[in-house]
Amino acid sequence: MEERLQDLQRRALAELARLDGAGPLEDWRITFLGKKGELAEVLRGMGALPADRRPAVGMVANRVRDALEAGYAAQRELAARAADEARERAEAVDVTLPGRRNPPGAEHPLQRVIRRLEDIFVGLGFTVADGPEVELDHYNFTALNFPPEHPARDMQDTFFLTGDLLLRTHTSPVQARTLERSAPNSPLRIIVPGRVYRRDDDDATHSHAFTQCEGLVVGRGVRMSDLKGTLLAFARAMYGGDQQVRLRPSFFPFTEPSAELDVRCIHCGGAGCATCKQTGWIEILGCGMVHPNVLRMNGYDPAQVSGFAFGMGVERIAMLLYRVEDIRDFYVNDLRFLRQFAGVVL
Ligand code: PHE
Repeated sequence: MEERLQDLQRRALAELARLDGAGPLEDWRITFLGKKGELAEVLRGMGALPADRRPAVGMVANRVRDALEAGYAAQRELAARAADEARERAEAVDVTLPGRRNPPGAEHPLQRVIRRLEDIFVGLGFTVADGPEVELDHYNFTALNFPPEHPARDMQDTFFLTGDLLLRTHTSPVQARTLERSAPNSPLRIIVPGRVYRRDDDDATHSHAFTQCEGLVVGRGVRMSDLKGTLLAFARAMYGGDQQVRLRPSFFPFTEPSAELDVRCIHCGGAGCATCKQTGWIEILGCGMVHPNVLRMNGYDPAQVSGFAFGMGVERIAMLLYRVEDIRDFYVNDLRFLRQFAGVVL
């Protein structure tokens, strides 16, 4: 019987040493140490032994059980450690791998031009104002001296939302809003960059949504020469110190007189090229002296103060500056287009 026990211990420990992992280890425990296992079976045979043999065999049996249990505990410990190590390996972060790059984005070319406009005009003493894109007919047209039947009010040009709500067709309504909420006759010097909307079919030079920058200066004795001097200073800051400007007569309901401002072609310098259609000049904005009716309707007294205003298309400025040939490039968000402006300082 002792021999059977010794043999059991040898086999059990030999097999235990070959085990790998927690699953087989449990099988081993059931086989050798379980209630119906080999050791239990041997012990059940003890009853058949003569009484004087039992203590000695019992001692051997206890030693064998202790040996198996100790072996089992040690192996379990090993299996647990191996499992921990495997998990740690799986979760390990290799700090020597190259990182994921987050390349810095580029400022959108329109935003860049707006920032540049703001810098220039703030340097000339202007502040930046804004107003709603969903606008009342009143501010977009009536308060700007548009006659009731003016063609610009036509459904063809304007996105109407309800009877008197619309998407503003220009940034000029902010002129009326600013005059209206300012103390009567108090001086003003603002620019207003912002989105405007027109019912145009989109093509290379038209977009139903685009960007304008309005300007308004009001004060005592403001004259047409102030308008020209201010816009010349702007043109030189924007396009270079030797830039020339010229005014051509035009018409807007809210300015009188009205004009369009041309700059020397920024591509050929005036010699004549495709961009300026061989004229040497490029139109960049509309402007004029604020119409007395506009001052009056918005709480200012045209006998006391006068003003000038101007409005330019930001896309047009950006297209000329960066030689962009299709206005839609600003809106389709093609990264190949936008990436070209990464690092451009203007
Ligand atoms: N609002 C005019 C336009 O959209 C531009 C303009 C602004 C003209 C201010 C004169 C004065 O065409």
